[in-house]
Amino acid sequence: MKDAPNYLLAIETSCDETAAAVMKEGKELLSNVVSSQIKIHSEYGGIVPELASRHHLEAIVPTVDEAVQRAGIDLSELDGIAVTQGPGLVGSLLVGLSFAKALAEALSTKLTGVNHIHAHLFSVFLGQERPDFPFLGLVVSGGHTSLYVVNNFFSVELIGQTRDDAAGEAFDKVAKILGLPYPGGPVISRLAEKGDAGAYSLPRAWLPQTPYDFSFSGLKTAVLTLVRRVEKEVGQIPVEDVCAAFQEAVVDVLVEKSTKAALEKGLKEIVVAGGVAANSRLRLKMASISQSRGLKAYFPPVKFCMDNAAMVALVGHRQLQAGMVLGPHADVYSRLFQPG
Ligand code: KG4
Ligand code: ZN
Repeated sequence: MKDAPNYLLAIETSCDETAAAVMKEGKELLSNVVSSQIKIHSEYGGIVPELASRHHLEAIVPTVDEAVQRAGIDLSELDGIAVTQGPGLVGSLLVGLSFAKALAEALSTKLTGVNHIHAHLFSVFLGQERPDFPFLGLVVSGGHTSLYVVNNFFSVELIGQTRDDAAGEAFDKVAKILGLPYPGGPVISRLAEKGDAGAYSLPRAWLPQTPYDFSFSGLKTAVLTLVRRVEKEVGQIPVEDVCAAFQEAVVDVLVEKSTKAALEKGLKEIVVAGGVAANSRLRLKMASISQSRGLKAYFPPVKFCMDNAAMVALVGHRQLQAGMVLGPHADVYSRLFQPG
């Protein structure tokens, strides 16, 4: 019996991207295909869960086909399948899990279920610069903003999370307030480069009682109030300045809380992952403040920050090596989940 899968197929459908990847020996990425639904959801200014599941259903077969073809292998050569099991949108997750179960059954191969947040955390290992365990992990995406102590691939301890909006969600909502397209992160980041972050002072929620937790809904409301006031007084909104001031407020909180947590937990390295980790201001400030405090910050390559299946393959390979397989009755989970 082989102790490690040679060719692993990974599938990710937790949110609004249908993604598939093939990885060899747990490290060599042979293909990485992402079918994005951004165009479908941008019309609504955010994700519509019903539409997301329907699109996953249409996209899953061609996406997996393309990943297998690009990898230059045949389906029959697969030694295992990894699929995102949660957290995420239940309807979307179900498409991926049902498909993966059926395929694993048909190919008589092993199936493992991957935690989407853990996949984001470990996506840093898809890059050249890799951290050592243990490290402080910050996951900042459209659905989650959480801090973790990461001891190894199988020991991930949640130490704080957002009480309301996720950081990416705040970018998306502020974009909507400013009449900018979805997803808000990339466009706000681009406009912020030309703006003055000091033009407006926006609130930062430090939450001294629970310093590892986050809150971004007050900031979003403050932007709304500011925009309404400025619009009334001046007639037009200085969009670039608002973007810069908002981005700086988010970045300040993420950097301050992560570096503080790392120091207090005695950790020397910080990993920032998830869609918002693509933000260049966050990358710059996290790197420089970390360095000034004797810490080192790591980020996944930008193309692996947003949802993808390569990160699912990376974790899935290790789980299969450790014998973590899913049975036929396994179900998806929608909320943050800590494997026992
Ligand atoms: O990880 P991800 O692809 O999906 C979830 O698991 O949620 O993250 C998507 C989020 C969106 O909210 C998007 O606005 C944000 O990541 N995002 C960014 C940037 N690129 C994507 N936020 C700030 N700056 C960016 N450059
Ligand atoms: Zn994600």
